[in-house]
Amino acid sequence: MRYFTKNLPLRYFTKNLPLRYLIISAVVLFIYTFSYTECHGAEDYDIVIKGGTIVTAQTSFVADIGIGNGKILKIAKNGIVAGSAEVIYGAGKYVLPGAIDAHVHMNLKFCGSNSEDWDTSTAAAACGGVTTIIDFAIQTKGQTLASAIKARMADARNKVCIDFALHGGITDWNERTKKEMRHFTKNGIPSFKMFMIYKSQGWMADDAMLFEALEQTKETGALILLHAESEPLLALFQKQYKTDKMMKKHKAYCHSLARPEITETEAINRACFLTKTTGGRAYIVHVSSAEGSKIIGRAAKAGTHIWGETCPQYLLLDDSVFKRSDGHLFATCPQIKKLKDKEGLLQSVKNGVLTVLSTDTCTFSKKQKASWNGDFTKIPYGMPGVETLLPTMHTLLVKKSRCSMNQLVALTSTNPAKLFGMYPQKGAIEKGSDADLVVFDPMAEQTIDIGTLKSTCDWNPYEGMKLQGLPVVTISRGRIVARKGKFMGKKGWGRFVHRKPGGSI
Ligand code: URP
Ligand code: ZN
Ligand code: ZN
Repeated sequence: MRYFTKNLPLRYFTKNLPLRYLIISAVVLFIYTFSYTECHGAEDYDIVIKGGTIVTAQTSFVADIGIGNGKILKIAKNGIVAGSAEVIYGAGKYVLPGAIDAHVHMNLKFCGSNSEDWDTSTAAAACGGVTTIIDFAIQTKGQTLASAIKARMADARNKVCIDFALHGGITDWNERTKKEMRHFTKNGIPSFKMFMIYKSQGWMADDAMLFEALEQTKETGALILLHAESEPLLALFQKQYKTDKMMKKHKAYCHSLARPEITETEAINRACFLTKTTGGRAYIVHVSSAEGSKIIGRAAKAGTHIWGETCPQYLLLDDSVFKRSDGHLFATCPQIKKLKDKEGLLQSVKNGVLTVLSTDTCTFSKKQKASWNGDFTKIPYGMPGVETLLPTMHTLLVKKSRCSMNQLVALTSTNPAKLFGMYPQKGAIEKGSDADLVVFDPMAEQTIDIGTLKSTCDWNPYEGMKLQGLPVVTISRGRIVARKGKFMGKKGWGRFVHRKPGGSI
């Protein structure tokens, strides 16, 4: 202090009044100019979201978001002047990165043909706060992956209402397919589903195929998605229950009886072992058993590059649904398991063992489902789900199970974006990210009712469930595509998302 009072220029400044005023004015002018550009910016915005609580996987804070040219241009805690931009008022609401449903089937020709196509299903997705889906291009025997992908893209292009990506689906393992895997890993499709069941459909991969595919991923950074159920065990149990006596007695519940937990746990164990041995990278889709999730957790903890997803149907329902008179509607593959699995899976989601929530949307109408005619092996597998992913999981995880909003965002957006090579273009609220955003009202309430859902399916597995928290506005690449359950986007708006290999969480 003594140094400063003795310091000549400082003493000169305090004594020289005109100089003092000059310097103070310069400082004021500088601060004003700086804060003016901070608030008013040179940029033009199409949309400004004002005063919402931005929730990312890591943090939550109140700020304005300026959107232009489909991107997030600015995030400012001290406000953005909207000018001529459309303003969305976010006070009291959350602003989330749009949900990513990493496992859907639109217009799939399997077990018959889906009742919903890309357009109605992705319009419903937008109403539910989903801004990106990842579907599958599954090759048929003799078909190249390239032609399966081309056909799937052509089918989607003019119908899909939100952005989409594709996983390859490998059902014909040969030298050509191995080369194609390498090619697509570098060219926008670095993940491939392989099936440990569906032998009669010609989709099943044996252990040698899985081993080779996983070996390749060690080198390329691709990811093998595994449908982990044991074909021989399933065949054995299905034979035991596919008798007139059993099917008359147990009806749709045979679907549950013929797929005990071991059908899944044996295959998940094998998948973990193959992944560890090869040093490859695997992701177990639609984990339906608590024990299955624990096996994945143990393997991942021991250093195996393995991840797992589960779906709302396994967290919200249990196998008592198959005892209902319309129980056959709930048949999925794998099937909804016991109450203890439902509870155990919730624990695995809460403690971070399962890191992605997806829906496995695969919609069949009541009429299509009725084609089973009492034979549980003939029920078209699958149900609607993409539209209700975010509100059902907010209700279960945040409102009822004390998960944070940040964890919900991680599970439904940031984790799939990272793992499947889309981050931070998707799954993030950052300057430069795609403006895929959801304004979410945590206090809004609604009861699930097929009459108010956008999906054209004539039934819903969660009919009557009371939702706490709903999307209010969904923005896809800077365009408002849904407002309060009303679709406002357009068919063909969705663009294909090129993804990168090597994603991790
Ligand atoms: O049950 C469903 N979703 N079936 C579709 C095919 C699959 O294995 O994901
Ligand atoms: Zn599957
Ligand atoms: Zn699936």
